[in-house]
Amino acid sequence: MLHFSTSRTATSQSRNSVGTMKSVTSIAELRAARAKLPETVGLVPTMGFLHEGHLSLVRRARSECACVVVSIFVNPSQFSPSEDLEAYPRDTPRDLSLLEAEGVDLVWMPDAAVMYPPGYQTWVDVKEVTQPLEGGMRPGHFRGVATVVAKLFNAVQPQKAYFGQKDAQQVVVIQQMRRDLNFPLEVVVVPTAREADGLAMSSRNVYLDSEERIAATVLFNALNAAKDAHLAGERDAEKLRQIMEDTINAEPLAKLQYLSCAHPETLQELEKVETGALLSMAVFLGKTRLIDNLVLKE
Ligand code: PAJ
Repeated sequence: MLHFSTSRTATSQSRNSVGTMKSVTSIAELRAARAKLPETVGLVPTMGFLHEGHLSLVRRARSECACVVVSIFVNPSQFSPSEDLEAYPRDTPRDLSLLEAEGVDLVWMPDAAVMYPPGYQTWVDVKEVTQPLEGGMRPGHFRGVATVVAKLFNAVQPQKAYFGQKDAQQVVVIQQMRRDLNFPLEVVVVPTAREADGLAMSSRNVYLDSEERIAATVLFNALNAAKDAHLAGERDAEKLRQIMEDTINAEPLAKLQYLSCAHPETLQELEKVETGALLSMAVFLGKTRLIDNLVLKE
């Protein structure tokens, strides 16, 4: 892990080539700063410990919006008790210097007491699309995601919000919530940023030891094996799932948790691939759980 030294602190303001990046924590400060921003405002929600995947969202927002707001909040409500919230990697000074270099206008870093003050009791529960895949493995996860993203949308009031295809089900859930709750904004989906060998960038990749890191390419390889079969005419979803499973099982360090060939909007498992599909999987490399996905077009 590279560490960059920075003289800035979480509350400092400083100049860059684009303007002044401001960072705030409370809702009142956020609203005051937001009110001064000219539209279009683009929001990039993150949990920090930023990598090139996050920065690809920021760059897309920068290219499409007059102002870019980034939120950094490790949202406790999307972690289950068995998932180690405290161990989630953090490096705020580095995050701030990366965002400043990208010309971000405003960074919002609420703490848990700002987002969930004592007595907090309102939750956003998206039903069907949260049930399979990640939702099946991580009960309550998407309730936490939908709730915090709704709160971010309400507080920042962006015209556009940027999410990564890396978390394909998260995108489907947020699109559903946006429609159901009439949020007046556009959700922009940004392609998955990958390492040179195909591994999808993730904050969790830092947990992989050197052997696991090499073995971790098996997710992308499995997705591509199924994609190649689809390109060659295979339309039987079970055969595509089998191809992915065989590829994962051939890697001794990898342990498959689930894999799927599903409808890209309903996320229901397919029998036949007719109008495109979402291939997705979760795989353990040692203790590290990685997810990846690929969309098959018609
Ligand atoms: P986090 O995991 O920090 O990811 C923030 C955003 O970056 C998400 O939209 C995610 O899909 C995107 N992202 C992560 N890795 C990526 C990659 N390799 N390529 C492209 N985009 C990538 O996802 C969350 O945080 C949280 O659930 C959040 C939406 C902030 C709500 O708490």
